[in-house]
Amino acid sequence: MRGTEAGRYGEGLFRPEETGEADRIDLGALAYDEVSTARLAALGAGPGWSCLDVGAGTGTLARWLLESAGVTAVLAVDRDTRSLDADRTPGLSTLTADITAPDFAPGRFQLVHARFVLMHLRSWRRMITKLASLVAPGGVLVLSDAVDLTTAGAPATPYTTVMRAMWHGLRQSIGTDISWVPDCPYLLREEGLSRVAAEIHVPPLVPGSPLSGFWADTWDRARDAMLATGQVDAARIERAGRELSSDDCAGLSPGMLTAWGWRTEEAVRDGHI
Ligand SMILES: C[S@@+](CC[C@H](N)C(=O)[O-])C[C@H]1O[C@@H](n2cnc3c(N)ncnc32)[C@H](O)[C@@H]1O
Repeated sequence: MRGTEAGRYGEGLFRPEETGEADRIDLGALAYDEVSTARLAALGAGPGWSCLDVGAGTGTLARWLLESAGVTAVLAVDRDTRSLDADRTPGLSTLTADITAPDFAPGRFQLVHARFVLMHLRSWRRMITKLASLVAPGGVLVLSDAVDLTTAGAPATPYTTVMRAMWHGLRQSIGTDISWVPDCPYLLREEGLSRVAAEIHVPPLVPGSPLSGFWADTWDRARDAMLATGQVDAARIERAGRELSSDDCAGLSPGMLTAWGWRTEEAVRDGHI
């Protein structure tokens, strides 16, 4: 499937028209929005800012930027903007586009943001360069993607086995790759961005929490890809689901690494960018 349309996020897996897909994205947003919004606020998102959110999903962060941070404008881009278009928040524009297309050039922005998007793109490295080029002088690029800190030494419980099979299956089917994510701050430096920093948040797997629901839904959707790895069978996936919803799941959830870097006015003036 590699390189074919069926082998891409939203086509081979996680199709937006599937019942419940927007709800699955919302569960992920519920688990991580608090951390993302705290970081965006600390970076100064506010009045006067024009923002680009690529792979904006259901638009929870685009709406927060406008309604709570008070930014001036947000362009929310996704291959499927149905959830975004359902909302008429003042200042919100939407664009239905494939961000990997060579002619994707939406302009320059004070904030360029992408969360849980680049990890799903085979062209993630080229996309970091592309997104950095969309940051206006004085602006900031903020990228969040998944990290999985489960070590090779963690016990092989149904949960850990299934989570490993999920990453393997997603890699084989749609090309999802999180191996580069811890290097993201260095990659932002390579793009000539300054004052680069990063943080990791790993929320707890509490039964009944949005995060536990997100992983259960994700396993449901990725089930065939997980089975195709040969690392798990249906019974093990079912046992992992029970472990996830029990009080005794000691498993460490995958977390989110957020890295950011600024395009300084000086670097632009001196021709370094
Ligand atoms: C895991 S969801 C994350 C949604 C949102 N950023 C969030 O964190 O809540 C990934 C999103 O990226 C979008 N996406 C994936 N590949 C894309 C592409 N090539 N061009 C535009 N959007 C894409 C999907 O449609 C989906 O909405």
